[in-house]
Amino acid sequence: MSKVHDFKPDMYLTKKDFKEIKEIFHTPLTGSYNWDYTAADDKINRLYQLAKKRQWDVEIDLDWSQEWDLNKATLEEDFSINHQSYLDYQPYLDLSDEMKLHAQKRFAAWTLSQFLHGEQGALLVASQLCSCAPTYNGKLYAATQTYDEARHVEAFNKYLQTRFGTMYPITPDLKALLDKILTDERWDLKFIGMQLVIEGLALGAFKAIQMSYPDSLLKELIQKIIQDESRHVTFGVHYLEEHVKSLSAEEIEDRAQFAYEACVIMRQRFHAIEVFEELGWDAEETIKYDETVTIRKHFQEFLFQRVIPSLKRVGLLTDSVRPKFEELGVLKWEDFDDDDVDWREAQSA
Ligand SMILES: [Fe+2]
Ligand SMILES: [Fe+2]
Repeated sequence: MSKVHDFKPDMYLTKKDFKEIKEIFHTPLTGSYNWDYTAADDKINRLYQLAKKRQWDVEIDLDWSQEWDLNKATLEEDFSINHQSYLDYQPYLDLSDEMKLHAQKRFAAWTLSQFLHGEQGALLVASQLCSCAPTYNGKLYAATQTYDEARHVEAFNKYLQTRFGTMYPITPDLKALLDKILTDERWDLKFIGMQLVIEGLALGAFKAIQMSYPDSLLKELIQKIIQDESRHVTFGVHYLEEHVKSLSAEEIEDRAQFAYEACVIMRQRFHAIEVFEELGWDAEETIKYDETVTIRKHFQEFLFQRVIPSLKRVGLLTDSVRPKFEELGVLKWEDFDDDDVDWREAQSA
């Protein structure tokens, strides 16, 4: 998908509209059977039991009939951080209030589109983990995650189509990162890229959006997804903790570097170029401006509050990458405790 996709009013996904959305990738997946059904990674089994109990249904458990008229939204209802961050940007100030509001809607649709595409990436990666995860309980857990991700794709897709009627293409850097994770044959790299970095950052972004977004349907939808994602990150951390200890120093360094590069992509190369172009803004100039905005900087740092402690816990915050994370301004989160999986419920599951 390489262009903005607008849907006609009241239209909800037809095959014809999507016939051009097709892309093939090949992957040298190294799968494994596990014939030992007594494997003792208890924590992963408890997470699996919890995941089964916490299944929900996009159609049944969300009230899609609740109303929120996007056309009656106001600039004060800041449904993206963009209104605040562009208050000193002349090309934004030059817009009429009506156009400012239009811009906000486009920014919101762009962000939600990236969530949707990221969820599809997570769906594909999680399904690979069923084959790749070496332990029996790991395979079972990955199966529940695959279903979780299918729901997330379904939910964001339906929300975007029914509320916004438009969808933006995936940003090239997120796509490149997904390609890398999907086509690398090392299973642990898939866990690091998806579970620790992408899902960790997504958790931060979901929480931020949930705090400010004016539509209660999206808040409810995101609350359900946050619960699932939280389990996914916890799965990744517990699964990788022992494994990383078994790697050589060189292998650990290699993975630490990969994790850092994935973080850089997610932090610094995430720009709504298509929206800038629609508004007639110079993309390069706008990106430069974006980098000077304090609220945006704080937002980007906030996104890392789950990722950095996870990387530390599994042993990937090595001496060589620490200064680089310090430069990104996110090392302050290293001792932040944000594991919000309900372990008491998991114990009794
Ligand atoms: Fe997800
Ligand atoms: Fe996930």
